[in-house]
Amino acid sequence: MYRARITGVGHYTPPNVVKNSDLEKLMDTSDEWIRERTGILERRFVSDDEHNSDMALKATNIALERAGKKPEDIDFIVYATLSPDYFFPGSGCILQNDLEIPGVGALDIRTQCTGFVYGLSIADQFIKTGMYKTILVVGSEVQSRGIDLTTKGRDIAVIFGDGAGAAIVERSEDDNRGILTTQLHADGRYVKELWNEDPGSRKMPRLSHEMIDEDDSIYPYMNGRYVFKHAVSKFPAVIFEALETAGVDKSELDLVIPHQANMRITEAVRQRLDMPEEKVFSNIQKYGNTTAASIPIAMSEAFEQGLIKDNSLVCLAAFGSGFTWASALIRW
Ligand code: UT7
Repeated sequence: MYRARITGVGHYTPPNVVKNSDLEKLMDTSDEWIRERTGILERRFVSDDEHNSDMALKATNIALERAGKKPEDIDFIVYATLSPDYFFPGSGCILQNDLEIPGVGALDIRTQCTGFVYGLSIADQFIKTGMYKTILVVGSEVQSRGIDLTTKGRDIAVIFGDGAGAAIVERSEDDNRGILTTQLHADGRYVKELWNEDPGSRKMPRLSHEMIDEDDSIYPYMNGRYVFKHAVSKFPAVIFEALETAGVDKSELDLVIPHQANMRITEAVRQRLDMPEEKVFSNIQKYGNTTAASIPIAMSEAFEQGLIKDNSLVCLAAFGSGFTWASALIRW
């Protein structure tokens, strides 16, 4: 069996900065409430002519350059998003076309906040078995076009932002470095605690005026406190699971990169792990929650800041809609 290594990471966030004070003009909220409850100061929203796969392409180009690779080196694409360009086909196909690599397999996955970690695990399995040598894993989200930017939707609207991150995962001959383990979980009993009901194929037609004008079901719903409660227990559990599976002690960790859901969740996780602040990465202040993009954006920024170096032991962990939760332990 081969080992899979991340050899390049990149990210892109739209230049359009939306501050808490900008949201105050759209809904009954306050900078103080948003800061205190979430830690978010600002987020990025796409401009009218910018789309999910455009951001993914920009993040991919940076990741490719850092890995010293060209698009034609990519054997397979895994694209994590809950906000694809179209209902179908998947954004992976659009990105593949933009990269001008026709014929290369492209798989969209929809596990929301855990999408990138699930994607990394898929890449790991394909590389381990020898099926592929170089896989592009992307997480990209346009949340700003799917949220209710009025007082009715304020609990959700103030949290989410847009952006993309990408990683090049390659076959490695070095048995000591690379993805050491991935842990993937889901519990479908909680589907409706954080979901976007419409449009979906359960209804005929799948999109109607009533859904838009009366039901608000085209917007995401989140049982915030319930999600919070589950998140603070699942994050540490899935991190410990990864450490135990890999036979690594917590003290060896150089960096934990949690999905950026809420600063209070990250802080609670840090305390449960009993780790110093500098070992638990956070950039939610700048971007809010970018769902499947949050971990690769954070990973790319951590790399740029020199927090991830050769041989660093890094643990990624995520929790979100599904419910799903997942982790990946990586020797860089
Ligand atoms: O990435 C996917 C996973 N998602 C998460 O992990 C999110 C987990 N949940 C959370 O982060 C938090 O539950 C929220 C940030 C969503 C909400 O914070 P909270 O401390 O749980 O607040 P709450 O929902 O209990 O609401 C408290 C009050 C309510 O008013 P009343 O009923 O006390 O009068 C809300 O109506 O805050 C009100 N509120 C707001 N006020 C100003 C809710 N949203 C806002 C807002 N601005 N944006």
